Amino acid sequence: MTEMQANSSGDRAPRRILITGGAGFIGSNFVHHWCEQYPGDRVVVLDALTYAGNRKTLASLEGGDNFRFVQGDICDRPLIDVLLQEEAIDTVAHFAAESHVDRSILGPGAFVQTNVVGTFTLLEAFRQYWLSANKPESYRFLHVSTDEVYGSLGPTDPAFSETTPYTPNSPYSASKAGSDHLARAYFHTYGMPTIITNCSNNYGPYHFPEKLIPLMCINILMGKPLPVYGDGQNVRDWLYVRDHCRALDLVIHKAAPGETYNVGGNNEAKNLDLVHLLCDLMDELAPELPVRPAKELITFVTDRPGHDRRYAIDATKIRTELGWTPLETVESGLRKTVQWYLDNRDWWQPLLSEEYQAYYQQVYAAAAK
Ligand code: NAD
Ligand code: TYD
Repeated sequence: MTEMQANSSGDRAPRRILITGGAGFIGSNFVHHWCEQYPGDRVVVLDALTYAGNRKTLASLEGGDNFRFVQGDICDRPLIDVLLQEEAIDTVAHFAAESHVDRSILGPGAFVQTNVVGTFTLLEAFRQYWLSANKPESYRFLHVSTDEVYGSLGPTDPAFSETTPYTPNSPYSASKAGSDHLARAYFHTYGMPTIITNCSNNYGPYHFPEKLIPLMCINILMGKPLPVYGDGQNVRDWLYVRDHCRALDLVIHKAAPGETYNVGGNNEAKNLDLVHLLCDLMDELAPELPVRPAKELITFVTDRPGHDRRYAIDATKIRTELGWTPLETVESGLRKTVQWYLDNRDWWQPLLSEEYQAYYQQVYAAAAK
């Protein structure tokens, strides 16, 4: 399938889309996807530029007639009211969040504030705006969420489906679950056209180096230890970020209001196996490495508190109802990703700040308690 066939870019009226968290990992990939697919659409990015947001990621789009970047907080109701009106927004794609489980263990407050209060603020602003416009049928509010709301699976449990009960275990997943419930309630109570997606672990370009895959790539390049939590047998279901973006595109164009869709590539891997794969790819693709074979850097460290054992997504609904298919396999997607980190040192090097190093020491200190 080609990229064009994979998207719903046939006859369509131009949209005016507000993308929150568009300077983060998935949000920025989505912004690039949308601007490539729909150059006639108005794209407004709202991002607070926390440690995880990086305006450089959007540099190639800045200055374009149809693109606007606004630095601001999703908890700032007056700002959101103005943006919705001023830009005549018809579509919200809501990515902004605190997204890292380890940080939620160290400091859950920011997760409740942004993920719950921020989502509520956006929903409420959009409701007033949608009502004052007489509830146009084309309006959509996409709430981007995670499979972590479903909790943890045993080794032989069936994968999460859209009807799996919510059992969030970390402050991160609990805050995302709260925001999902609000988005659902706004459809059920007010008929507001919300749609929720719950996706598995993403990987790809522009991924902040605190997460497993970029952390391992960068540590291999720097000859630093590769910290594997616990026994390394925890399972995650990996999806290339642009495949996620294509799923969200389809959902915005084709899903009925009030629907929820699980998104995942059916690519379960144990953490240790995935790290081995990354080491092999680095050995093959990196011209120079401080330590080769890279596997020598693997170090088992104290486990994350409350570490969910296994996530797996059943994506049958989005595949059959909307015709979504991922284009990348784990092998092809990881190869592209490793090559991207090799080619884009200028993007990630400045992120390894003193604040970042101090954060890591806290993660390990907390885990050791
Ligand atoms: P990220 O941490 O890389 O980016 C989050 C972005 O939100 C950053 O640019 C940050 O500056 C911005 N932000 C944070 N607080 C804000 C606030 N109060 N106001 C405005 N902007 C704010 O996160 P990500 O990995 O790109 O995840 C994006 C969304 O997708 C999140 O909602 C996350 O829960 C969900 N999700 C992530 C994954 C994954 O594997 N990363 C999987 C499924 C779902
Ligand atoms: P992560 O990328 O933080 O995503 P999530 O916790 O949202 O799934 O972690 C992916 C898996 O990798 C998870 O099981 C925790 C593990 N992990 C490590 O073993 N070492 C690390 O340094 C990190 C960051 C994660």
